[in-house]
Amino acid sequence: MNKTEALEKLEAFGQGHVLGFFDELSEAQQESLLAQIEETDLSVLSHIIDKKDISRGTFSPLAAMQRDEIVKREKEFRDEGISLIKKGKTAALLLAGGMGTRLGSDAPKGMYDIGLTRPVYIFQRLIENLLEVVKESDTWIRLFIMTSEKNHEATVSFLREHDYFGYKEDRVVFFKQSMAPACDYNGKLYMEAKDRISTSPNGNAGWYSSMVCAGLDRILTDEGIEWINIFAVDNVLQRICDPCFLGATALAGVSVGAKVVKKAAPDEKVGVMCLEDGKPSIVEYYELSREMMDDKDENGDPAYNYGVILNYLFHVPELDAVADDKMPMHIVEKKIAHIDDKGNEVKPSEPNGYKFERLVLDMIHQLDSCLPYEVIREKEFAPIKNPAGVDSVESARELLQKNGITL
Ligand code: UTP
Repeated sequence: MNKTEALEKLEAFGQGHVLGFFDELSEAQQESLLAQIEETDLSVLSHIIDKKDISRGTFSPLAAMQRDEIVKREKEFRDEGISLIKKGKTAALLLAGGMGTRLGSDAPKGMYDIGLTRPVYIFQRLIENLLEVVKESDTWIRLFIMTSEKNHEATVSFLREHDYFGYKEDRVVFFKQSMAPACDYNGKLYMEAKDRISTSPNGNAGWYSSMVCAGLDRILTDEGIEWINIFAVDNVLQRICDPCFLGATALAGVSVGAKVVKKAAPDEKVGVMCLEDGKPSIVEYYELSREMMDDKDENGDPAYNYGVILNYLFHVPELDAVADDKMPMHIVEKKIAHIDDKGNEVKPSEPNGYKFERLVLDMIHQLDSCLPYEVIREKEFAPIKNPAGVDSVESARELLQKNGITL
């Protein structure tokens, strides 16, 4: 793409300012900016106009498999799960492409040290949890790690330096997720540098299309992987490739399994597993009407009672049917570092614009069936989103210590 073509593309979206510093750039920088303009999908900006318009269908409850049933059938589930792992039919996929802006560290979130008397990195905690299943099943589970161009080098070198915290290097595969442009509240693209549009990872639903883009679906086919356990980087207590969860999901014959926890209160700020127009979905806490909060199941318990924790098992044969363009675009307010009109760097302390993300919960809605599988919150849910307060380093440390983990 040459400068004239780039300008034409930009002006169609009112973004001519992207070339504002063009004449000051070296030839190499000019080329790199033109290449970025060529590959960036600017049509995402149109979502700002209809941003309040992600229309939802009709919600109805979806029963979760609860602890009493899980405990009763534990051996059956565990045997099935271990057998699937031993046959190499299960992989783990760490979603580590996020920016972790709320935590406020510039390094990838997984590099955060939550230890008190010794170093305990977030990545280390997750790998230690997965290693327990490796040990139980006597099988090295394939581990995919999704990064983004913002944190890839740092993530890879950190894990290498720490010998993958005991994981087998040749069972780990990294890939980068795709990026989306970021803009101010009026839809004007931010520039990250004079030769670069500000971008951010395109949301955690990007994992499958980014995997295919990297050609890694070949590994799934070649190794006969049937289930992928997607998990967030920030829940330091979660069980990964949990054999019981895997067994229960596979035996239920569903397209996806979702680990869920009982809500702490009817209005807790957590997405709740449900059906939407008869298909699995997640209703956000702010979408729950009073009527839905008060709705009861046949046992008299709240009908919308189980929140998701971003730990899902996807059935691989059904993933090809999931299409990115059928998923709604979420417009998220974030702090976006950029340069101003004079080229000075700005690091905002408050949100200053929008990023565009597709979310994994919208993938689930494209699938036919889902098993919400209850886990005990105090044992499996310690997310680290903030430095202090709710879902923080502090609250996670407390939960880790309650679970006997030395920090
Ligand atoms: P969050 O929704 O907490 O987003 O991600 P975040 O970007 O990490 O953090 P904030 O909002 O900026 O503070 C939930 C999970 O999804 C992953 C994150 O790495 C985390 O594991 N994620 C999120 C991606 O892998 N890619 C994305 O584009 C967004």
